[in-house]
Amino acid sequence: MLGMKRGIALLLLVPALVLAQRRDVNYDESKVPKYTLPDPLVCADGTPVRDARTWREKRRPELLRLFEKNVYGKSPAPLPSMRFETASVEERALGGRAVRKEITVLFNGRPDGPRMNVLIYVPAGAERPVPAFCGLNFQGNQSICPDPGITLSKSWMRSRKDGTVINHRATEKSRGVAASRWPVEKILERGYALVTAYYGDIDPDYDDGFQNGVHPLFYQPGQTKPAPDEWGSIGAWAWGLSRILDYLETDPDIDAKRVAVLGHSRLGKTALWAGATDERFAIVISNDSGCGGAALSRRRFGETVKAINTSFPHWFCDNFNKYNDNEDALPVDQHELIALIAPRPVYVASAEQDRWADPRGEFLAALHADPVYKLLGAEGLPVKEMPPVNHPVMGTIGYHIRTGKHDLTVYDWEQYLAFADKHFGR
Ligand code: GCU
Repeated sequence: MLGMKRGIALLLLVPALVLAQRRDVNYDESKVPKYTLPDPLVCADGTPVRDARTWREKRRPELLRLFEKNVYGKSPAPLPSMRFETASVEERALGGRAVRKEITVLFNGRPDGPRMNVLIYVPAGAERPVPAFCGLNFQGNQSICPDPGITLSKSWMRSRKDGTVINHRATEKSRGVAASRWPVEKILERGYALVTAYYGDIDPDYDDGFQNGVHPLFYQPGQTKPAPDEWGSIGAWAWGLSRILDYLETDPDIDAKRVAVLGHSRLGKTALWAGATDERFAIVISNDSGCGGAALSRRRFGETVKAINTSFPHWFCDNFNKYNDNEDALPVDQHELIALIAPRPVYVASAEQDRWADPRGEFLAALHADPVYKLLGAEGLPVKEMPPVNHPVMGTIGYHIRTGKHDLTVYDWEQYLAFADKHFGR
């Protein structure tokens, strides 16, 4: 009884806490505290990194371990029993413009275990294998396109007042609701395949103590939740992206060596971590990823480490809580996450009205990753100052800030397509 009362009191308190936090958010550039970023080109023992070999053999693995231990947690290798099943193939989808495939990833090989449904559109008539864009979606595969042939997701989802998700299940009304974020026909016309899956198939996005999703598949005897340095939900979603790539390596229609991984917001954080941990991703794209993504934590502008750990306790590993109101103690900052992608092309995008994600902090992280790209002989970021809105820059590091709000838009996609054309030599 007492426990229940406390539960109710907490329930009432949480929104108040979140509101209070939002009220003291800093959106004033002059109030950004002075900070010193850790240098990606100096090892923890003080050794300077002067050549590609020291980066590759010493500093890069060290940084990866620091991010695992303190931010996202360590993810396991896939289970040897994992299996892929073809659920459907339609040779003449979208009025003949595409081949549509649906693949089921059985994470432990068992039909009653957790599974991920992957949707793939391959441009019809293109010379195969084709390069691809690959990213997770927020509301089920059927939400990305009004194509009635896409299987409606049966997975748990956050209910929505607009009738697209009722009682935590997607409805027919959800077909195509996210179509503005996925310009499928444009992507196909440009000769790319599009590969997507619902992020909740990997781990439902709520704090349940990691009892559902893929985490329990990996518990040691007696273990009931991830250890403080083991994967949270972002780690699991990124791991799921790697499992999609495992499948793509077996699909003769797709050139698995030319796959760009992309994501928006929490899934932009996820795309960056996937690109850092899995070097098979040839290009990495972060759309409005913000705190715990491309934005520098030490700036404490907009969303902070404490705010994100409070609202989303399941996203990062438990050790990340040590840095609530304590960002300067972090042994890494997010420019080093971008540096882990070097020398592969990476694109960071911001939106002018998306101050919660700290556009300037996102730009600065890209800028401070540049020395690693240069060391590895890549062009890096072609500018030193933040470009004006709607003026994309594209070196090996790309960046833009566009007008408008927190979203993934056709404007964003146009830049990603141009960036992929440039780097895939098309
Ligand atoms: C919240 C959260 C952000 C996240 C965003 C999203 O705003 O605070 O960190 O990026 O949700 O994923 O839409």
